[in-house]
Amino acid sequence: MDIVPPPARVRKDFLSILDLSHAELGQLLDSAAAMKAERALGTRAPTAGALAGMHVALLFEKPSLRTRSTFEVAIRELGGDTLHLPAEFAEGQREPLEDVARNLERWVRALVIRTYSQSKAATLASAAPRLHVINALSDEEHPCQALADVLTLRERLGSLRGRTLAYIGDGNNVATSLAQAAVMLGMVVHVGSPENYSLPPDVVEGIAAVTPPGAGLKLFTDPVEAVAGVDAVYTDVWTSMGQERESDKRRRIFAEYQVNADLMGFASPQAIFMHCLPAHRGEEVSAEVFESPSSVVFDQAENRLHTQKALLRHLLA
Ligand code: CP
Ligand code: NVA
Repeated sequence: MDIVPPPARVRKDFLSILDLSHAELGQLLDSAAAMKAERALGTRAPTAGALAGMHVALLFEKPSLRTRSTFEVAIRELGGDTLHLPAEFAEGQREPLEDVARNLERWVRALVIRTYSQSKAATLASAAPRLHVINALSDEEHPCQALADVLTLRERLGSLRGRTLAYIGDGNNVATSLAQAAVMLGMVVHVGSPENYSLPPDVVEGIAAVTPPGAGLKLFTDPVEAVAGVDAVYTDVWTSMGQERESDKRRRIFAEYQVNADLMGFASPQAIFMHCLPAHRGEEVSAEVFESPSSVVFDQAENRLHTQKALLRHLLA
């Protein structure tokens, strides 16, 4: 008789795309697509009570429109409730972060945190064995954004295996999580960045370890080479939150990396344009490309809701 192995234990936290197995990532997207379709049922949706009786704390040290709103709506649509914590509690000044986490786990099921250093989220997660910690953006990674991005890619391109995506600009938090997720789903990802602004070497190594056959990551300094023939072109701001003092220098360094109609002309004629938002028209993207029919940026924003509902259910329900 065959012995069926028990299902792998779901990781307690979601700090990184790499916290998911390839299979879990695919299942999360399937479940997000189903929840998107069922949303019209409102409180009659099969998942409407998935978080009934649960509270989720939200702690944001940086501004947010999309992430904060979509988590709040996601938690409520699953029947749960939210608790908004003042940003100062993430500083660890009034009491150590470990103690914050060990208090929270006595009251709430999960903590959604947007912070600076990824290690802060990791500290909170390891201090409290019952508290599910979700990374809502750190300086290093933005895994919740990447879930919405790959759902949007799948909606537009169908199977992602062997399809190509170019990320043009800063090798930042968004680029890291996007490249991890897209490669895990079988895509070939091109990153086109100025010298010294590409993905960090440890991120490149981490992606190599999860690359399935036929997928891969290639780094470029020439944006035209990076977008040649690709199915999707993605960009993000040149100056991320917390780097404001470098913005003049970055505007000069990234000037040749604007995604505009000329650059899109080197991609596949059907290529879509993607951006996590907020966007700076006239910097990383021209107004023309941002507003063009190929732009799917608001689909990405919508999909933040559906993928985070699937994530919350996967971790908590
Ligand atoms: N894309 C994104 O995370 O947007 P917010 O910063 O508004 O949450
Ligand atoms: N890279 C950007 C993403 C904003 C959603 C930042 O960190 O500010």
